[in-house]
Amino acid sequence: MSIRYIESSKQIILETADTTYQMKIDELGYLQHLYYGKKLGQNDMSYQFRIYDHGFSGNPYEMRDNRAYSLDSMAQEYTSFGVGDFRVTSIYASCSDGSRCAEFRYAAHEILDGKYTIPGLPSVYDNGDTVQTLIVTLIDKPANIKIKLYYGVFEELDIITRAAEIINAGNEIVWLRKACSMCLELPFGKWDMIHFHGRHCMERQPERVPLFHGIHTLVSGRGMSSHQHNPFVILCDRDATEDNGACYGVMLMYSGNHKTEIERDQFDSVRIVTGISDDRFRWELASGASFYTPEVILTCADGLTNLSHNYHRVIRNNVVRGEYKLMHRPVLINNWEATYFDITEEKVLAIAEKAKELGVEMFVLDDGWFKNRNDDNAGLGDWIPDTEKLPDGLGGLIEKINNMGLRFGLWIEPEMVNEDSDLYRTHPDWALTAPNRAPMMARNQLVLDLSRKEVHDYLFDTISGLLEKYNITYIKWDFNRPISDVYSYAFPSSRQGEVSHRYYLSLYALYEKLTAKFPHVLFEGCAGGGGRFDAGMLYYNPQIWCSDNTDPISRLKIQYGTSFGYPSCTVGAHVSASPNHQTGRKTPLNTRGVVAMSGSFGYELDLSQLSDEECDEIKNQIKKYKELEPIIHGGRMYRLSQKSDATHYMAWQFVSPDQSRALLNIVVTNPLANSAPVHVKLKGLIPDATYSVNGEFEVLGSALMKGGYTFQRLIGDYPAMQLDIVRI
Ligand code: GLA
Repeated sequence: MSIRYIESSKQIILETADTTYQMKIDELGYLQHLYYGKKLGQNDMSYQFRIYDHGFSGNPYEMRDNRAYSLDSMAQEYTSFGVGDFRVTSIYASCSDGSRCAEFRYAAHEILDGKYTIPGLPSVYDNGDTVQTLIVTLIDKPANIKIKLYYGVFEELDIITRAAEIINAGNEIVWLRKACSMCLELPFGKWDMIHFHGRHCMERQPERVPLFHGIHTLVSGRGMSSHQHNPFVILCDRDATEDNGACYGVMLMYSGNHKTEIERDQFDSVRIVTGISDDRFRWELASGASFYTPEVILTCADGLTNLSHNYHRVIRNNVVRGEYKLMHRPVLINNWEATYFDITEEKVLAIAEKAKELGVEMFVLDDGWFKNRNDDNAGLGDWIPDTEKLPDGLGGLIEKINNMGLRFGLWIEPEMVNEDSDLYRTHPDWALTAPNRAPMMARNQLVLDLSRKEVHDYLFDTISGLLEKYNITYIKWDFNRPISDVYSYAFPSSRQGEVSHRYYLSLYALYEKLTAKFPHVLFEGCAGGGGRFDAGMLYYNPQIWCSDNTDPISRLKIQYGTSFGYPSCTVGAHVSASPNHQTGRKTPLNTRGVVAMSGSFGYELDLSQLSDEECDEIKNQIKKYKELEPIIHGGRMYRLSQKSDATHYMAWQFVSPDQSRALLNIVVTNPLANSAPVHVKLKGLIPDATYSVNGEFEVLGSALMKGGYTFQRLIGDYPAMQLDIVRI
């Protein structure tokens, strides 16, 4: 049993393999947070409570004689608002009587086997694991607001999921202004925050900073989880390293506007609340209605590596779905960086033919294949193949590609529309634009109002139509601008604060229907590269294009940051041309191959222009990738170099689940003259097993892990090396 209720102390205890989570219903009915951390033998951690008078932190009315009891200094599972807890709040509403206060007290709880689901939203699913669900109901009687707190306890995975349901139990409307998915408190300790910021072409850059007093806000209001702030944060002990130290991960499974607030308060206690961003959010909660928040995936681990392994495992096995989940992902060639919009059937077939010869398995036709799409100013929305570029139509092209023995994949950007399109000319009100205001343009396109049923239905019919008519086995689903001017002509003015979230409810429902109807199609997410790389999207897309930056040296940093939360099988990565189109940097083909091989592998360059030597090298890369993919996608990933090493080199390693084979990768990011040798210690091997290193020598696992391996003279133009370590 991973969840226990102890009646005598009114405690609820959640246990996973290595962690304990404790809460307690106190004498006033508040749900206090007691502990989340390493597994305890101790059942009751309430002895740690603060018991002294904190002065300017007031007391609930019943406790007016006990000045030590204050909501302002108490760790809580979900906060009240407006009643004397002055820290960041997990919920805020305007109640029907106009008041803006509520204090939530325990009403009931239930413990169920299996994992709860959240209506309309993606969530971690039970994959035959030991999972239990706890639902605690809290209520504020005067405001008539009920909250159900959901906890999913995945025992073997060391994962706890959380979500909340806010219910209007009264007769009048409640206006919800903020509804977080959870509140988590770390009452003691000195914490660093690692968050993943970035920009287009440089996503998910880890930044580690000590928490200062005050509120740290990590937010996206761009209508997408964003290049700028991934909805994932780690709090770790100030001394934590890859190998040791308390580390907490908070990952929001949501692709739209999000906000995480981390407050270090006057007593050095830390509170984290996360969920849908409350900026411009306002939800009409009618009598009897429920609002469901997205899910948070929590883990607590010793060291950053273990934390990442917990996320890799749960995303791979309990988030990603469909037949590609654990299957070989087709090695693809994408024509984007080879042709951009300048597509001709001749060019496409020449690339495809070469690709087939080299061992590629799928051809992906990117942007530019549809009517009027000669640049990024027109065409989005209509999705009718351009017969000038493709004289035998899309069907004719696909047939030719299929006849070569290649599968066919297609790029679409369904959520968008150009003003210069038949769709926009017919339905201008289907785009998100505010009344009497010229909208912000980005890439000369507008975002369709997916909160409208007609738009949802149009997209379902259009995408279904393409997939039914043509032999398409892969879709690259792009999204190339942030959402602004959020206003839906389908909703009254009082409900415009709901549109951003309704957009995502509709998008998720669309994905749900399409993935169910076309189970054999592999969906790859994309948003100007990795602008919507999140667990919500991974529920529908087994892989996501990680970045529009295909320079291997930049990619090292992007993939390094991405690896903290997301497994390599989810990371779309391609070998592109040198000099690189984004950075102008020249790198060897081998280096480009080594870096791209650490994800879901493919190519994105004009293969028909390569020399015979380059073609031979690509043939070998593909062979190698196919052989190593089960280790790269199914094994454990270890970051062997730190951010500070990146000014010289980056090293990382994969180990097969049975530890019989490992792959060590190293890339020189900046060759240094006469430098100290690069020495790395391997991880995750069996200490007393003997391994052959590149077939050159044999050595014990313990020697490689404790004594390490030395690379001699890492100089030249960004060289890369791979060591194949095989148990003998
Ligand atoms: C985005 C994608 C690219 C490519 C272009 C096409 O930028 O990230 O990979 O598909 O759109 O317009």
